[in-house]
Amino acid sequence: MKNGTCWLDTDGERIQAHGGCIINHGGVYYWYGENKALSTRKGRVDFNGFSCYSSGDLNSWKNEGIVLKAVNECGHELNPGNVGERPKVLFNRKTGKFVMLFHLDAADYSYARVGVALADNPLGPFVYETSWRPLGRESRDMFAFVDDDGSAYVVSSADMNSTTLICKLNDSYTAVSGESKAAFTGQFREAHVILKEKGKYYHFSSGCTGWKPNSMLYAISSLPLGDWKLYDNPCSGKDYRKTFYGQTANAFSFKEQQYIMLDHWKPEDLGSSGYSFLPVYIDDDYVEIPWTEEFDP
Ligand code: GAL
Repeated sequence: MKNGTCWLDTDGERIQAHGGCIINHGGVYYWYGENKALSTRKGRVDFNGFSCYSSGDLNSWKNEGIVLKAVNECGHELNPGNVGERPKVLFNRKTGKFVMLFHLDAADYSYARVGVALADNPLGPFVYETSWRPLGRESRDMFAFVDDDGSAYVVSSADMNSTTLICKLNDSYTAVSGESKAAFTGQFREAHVILKEKGKYYHFSSGCTGWKPNSMLYAISSLPLGDWKLYDNPCSGKDYRKTFYGQTANAFSFKEQQYIMLDHWKPEDLGSSGYSFLPVYIDDDYVEIPWTEEFDP
């Protein structure tokens, strides 16, 4: 698959899984993301729901349909006039549920909440449960992950994006537990991603320039709620200052290699936005993400 372009599914249609995440469950990969197949008007697409694609090899992706659909009902939080972005699906080993957490917002991004939907299996259908602001604070451009010990966290841009707020979730992953950490205060980071390597936590993010690309930064902490230290731009190669015209969405590991997923937004036709899966090379506090033309697992 050629990085930076919009990839096709096994039906030859554009993959609609923007701002997405990939999980492995039972040996199958599931890619969830924003379905932006509706027409783009003034840099926005009506909320259509979140799609799921499945794959055994990360190379060919079968469209499994929209697993959380927009609700065409005035006043409903999932109505097409609202915003649903960056779905992250966590498998909860204790409850056996698949928990989808996503950025739920109004068209003007003033609602700034986390939406929660649950399913009994990875192909859904996901049932919408509720929304909240973590500890009552704004949450935009969120990310969520499960640690090796089963604890889960949600990472949000809070306080008008100036602060990165990391909140531990409760046992069912459907609400915050109360433990939290504010990081990068005054730094205005978004499009958060965290991966774990050799017991350390690596955070990747973009700056806040909407659909326009900017520089990626990485940070490291010994604990999710520990003291995060900002390092540098990990990207190398042509256009590394613009994150290769991409923006962080998620990370996954495959054959012991970590990868970061990027969206290459096309604001004039968001449904044709491209994807990249780039290798992340980590040597303690040195991290490098080189541009690679192909993702060829
Ligand atoms: C970006 C954000 C995207 C989307 C976009 C809307 O900053 O990362 O997920 O919200 O703004 O302009």
